[in-house]
Formats: sequence, structure tokens, C-alpha cells
Amino acid sequence: MDFCTINLSTVGRPPLAVHRKPQTILNKIIIAIDGHSSCGKSTLAKAMGNALGYAYISTGDMYRAVTLYFLENQVDINDKAAVVEALKQIRLHFVKDENGNRIHLNGRDVSEEIRKMHVAEMVSPVAVISEVRREMVRQQQAMGQQKAVVMDGRDIGTVVFPQAELKIFLTADVEERTRRRYEELTAKGQHVDFEEVKKNLTARDHIDSTREDSPLRQADDAVVIDNTDLNHEQQLELALDLVRERVESESVNTGH
Ligand code: DC
Repeated sequence: MDFCTINLSTVGRPPLAVHRKPQTILNKIIIAIDGHSSCGKSTLAKAMGNALGYAYISTGDMYRAVTLYFLENQVDINDKAAVVEALKQIRLHFVKDENGNRIHLNGRDVSEEIRKMHVAEMVSPVAVISEVRREMVRQQQAMGQQKAVVMDGRDIGTVVFPQAELKIFLTADVEERTRRRYEELTAKGQHVDFEEVKKNLTARDHIDSTREDSPLRQADDAVVIDNTDLNHEQQLELALDLVRERVESESVNTGH
């Protein structure tokens, strides 16, 4: 499988209008955001990336795109040889446009398709497979080599970047998370049942937290943000305060 490339040539967007000056942030750091399903990790990662002029990657999109490929090509996930063979056929690329990062699977923009329920229902079992994880982690680590990246997922602070300067563990009440995902899906015209969405979130959380390989867990040095009662701006504000703190302490430690 190819390295995921983030095409930043089309960036050109001004940073978000926040009460912070991105250019005052001299040290480039790695920001890892982990947490349960649908607690707004990608939204926060994107807002932070824009505010700081950093790249942002939602690693869940990568697992979802692999799942879509497996579904479309009837790859038996219990057949290790078939999984390894299928991984060799998959090319993932991120392309940034005015809507954010779009994920391309073998040249096809699948950003909408991967958010549908049939993919959501299969993604956690696919993300359990060590061969899949190893490949995804390899690509994610390559994307963070230059630092200046905000990456969200389940194992970013624990496995992908245990050395990340800032680790955030995002959480929110399950009812609130269900409501957000339900509204996101219905706004896109998908006919879903509230209880079905909740069942999917809870099931994914369970599989993601109990799997053997890289389970979702809070890194010891992660800062917990419960955003149940926070709006996007408040959450971003809080997160950027943490960045500022970390960058300042990095500057003291490194003398930059
Ligand atoms: O963030 P998301 O809901 O789009 O992620 C979809 C699934 O991918 C999630 O249920 C678990 C898996 N995942 C993972 O195992 N490790 C990651 N770093 C990101 C996602």
C-alpha cells in the first residue's frame, strides 16, 4: 500500500478567526486526539489544524476506507492471507479542499460513502485486525514526520505517537454523542433510527476498547476534555490554551 499523502498544495485558506495568532507559535508539535466514537474528535482536529496552520488527519477515515474496500470486494476478514493481499491493492490519499480533507480510495473520493451505516457497522471488526492496524500506523507515522500535525483516532497518543507533545482524550455523554451522529446522518439524507445509531456507537466503543491490539485507552499523560456541555468555540479555545502551554514549555526545555 502506498503512503497516504496529504495534498496541501490547495490549502490556501486563512486560519480560523480565533483569539490566537498562529504565527506566534514557533515550535511545531504533534497533537494527538483520542476518544470514543462521535465525540467530535475530527471536528476539533480540523478546527485546531486550521487555527494553527497544521495538517489534520482523521485516522478513522483510513479504517473506514479500508472497510469499504473489503465490503466492495467481498474480502473475508477472517482470512488473513486475503486481508494481506487486499491491503496491497489499496491506495489511500488525502486531498484537501474547501470542505476539509477528502479521502481517496484508489483514486476515488469516498469521503461520503465511508460515513454510511453499512461501513460504520463493519469498521470496528476490521480495525481489530493487526495486519490492517500495522499498515495504517506505518502510514500515520510517516505523515507526522514533519510534526505540525493534529491527528485523531483511538490509538494516536498510545501507539502512533506516544511521544506527542500534546495528547487530548475527548469524551462526551453517550446520549449527546448519539444525538450528534444522528443529526449528522439525517442532515445527509440518510434514514436512520436513533436507537440504531446509539447501538452502533456503543458496540464500536466496546470493540474498540476491548480489542487486543492497541485498544482505545486514555494515555497516562493525556488531558481529558469532556465536551458534553461545550460548544465548538469553547472547546477549541480550551484546546488552543493547552497547545500554547505545551509550546511554551517545549521552548523552555529546548531553548527555542
Ligand atoms: O473515528 P471514526 O468513528 O471515524 O473511526 C471509525 C472506526 O475506526 C472506529 O470505530 C475504530 C477505528 N479506528 C481505530 O481503531 N483506530 C484509529 N486510530 C481510528 C479509528
